[in-house]
Amino acid sequence: MLLLQVLIVTLTWSYGYSQITLLQTPLSFTRTVSKSARMSCKTSGFNFNSAYIHWYRQNPGAAPKRILYIGSGSVSMDEGFDSKKFEARNDVSGSTSNLRVHQLTEEDAATYYCAVWDHTYGIKYFGSGTKLFVSNIQARLNVSMIQVLPPSSEQDGKVSYMCLIQDFYPNVIKVTWEDDKKNAEENAVHEEIWDPDANQKSYSMSSWLTVDKNNNKNYSCKYQHESKDGSHPIESPDTPVVSQTTEGCINKPENGTTLSTDITDSFMHRTAYLIYIVLLLKSTMYYVIVLFFIYRMQSPIKHRGKKP
Ligand SMILES: *[C@@H]1O[C@H](CO)[C@@H](O)[C@H](O)[C@H]1NC(C)=O
Ligand SMILES: *[C@@H]1O[C@H](CO)[C@@H](O)[C@H](O)[C@H]1NC(C)=O
Ligand SMILES: *[C@@H]1O[C@H](CO)[C@@H](O)[C@H](O)[C@H]1NC(C)=O
Repeated sequence: MLLLQVLIVTLTWSYGYSQITLLQTPLSFTRTVSKSARMSCKTSGFNFNSAYIHWYRQNPGAAPKRILYIGSGSVSMDEGFDSKKFEARNDVSGSTSNLRVHQLTEEDAATYYCAVWDHTYGIKYFGSGTKLFVSNIQARLNVSMIQVLPPSSEQDGKVSYMCLIQDFYPNVIKVTWEDDKKNAEENAVHEEIWDPDANQKSYSMSSWLTVDKNNNKNYSCKYQHESKDGSHPIESPDTPVVSQTTEGCINKPENGTTLSTDITDSFMHRTAYLIYIVLLLKSTMYYVIVLFFIYRMQSPIKHRGKKP
């Protein structure tokens, strides 16, 4: 019986959750000191006209603090935040709340969240956040440093594709996979992000998609980053070998095969090295994130469970 109750609570809770959405853009925003930053929170699933949108700031390693809330045409600032610095406006026709942060200082480097209360259930919904970087380095992502590698090994009838994106800044990126019909592929995706030189100016990431060997779909790796959005198809296995063989052929016209094997070898070596680094990082990060979400999901369930 208790199990049934818990199940119903969980179901209605996730049902409610899927109704209200807060989509924050951009994923990240990078500006130098004293400039301004702007971000948006596009909402759906509730009556925007009568709602109050709350904006929070979370500095690294600190709890989120509310900056202000906005609704019914007025803005209420929280203590310690200056209305000259934080400017919020609601665009009612677009159900969107916009926040501007002026005169950026190092302290403004934080993640900003919009949120709304669902009074029926007493649940507060948060957007996914916009991370603000106050930095002299410009946001960048070099499209020619993206590789989408065809599957190189097979296990239990499954193959893995890898999307490798190197040398971007800042380290906020969203990568998804799509098939030819633009359907998102959500199964068995792993991703890792790392900082090869630990200098925090250049990041790399990889995302793996594991699918059935014979599903006959062409996938592409779709990326969203502050500096660029786009989609990259899987490279045909021949392309890189052919283009490099052309050069090799001039020196050794009779011996093209050896050259292809060399390239394949170095390619395999590089992939193995990347997988090794990534697996090291993976084990710790993954559990921390999962624990965090379990913790966050459990609090509202308990809260609702106590209601008559
Ligand atoms: C992007 O990467 C390619 C290949 O490494 C390089 O030749 C090119 O200069 C880079 N472009 C920028 C804008 O950094
Ligand atoms: C995948 O791409 C190849 C080459 O472009 C094409 O011939 C094939 O029909 C595509 N497969 C699917 C399932 O669309
Ligand atoms: C490639 O060249 C090497 C020496 O240059 C030779 O030993 C080998 O047999 C050649 N392989 C093929 C397939 O021609």
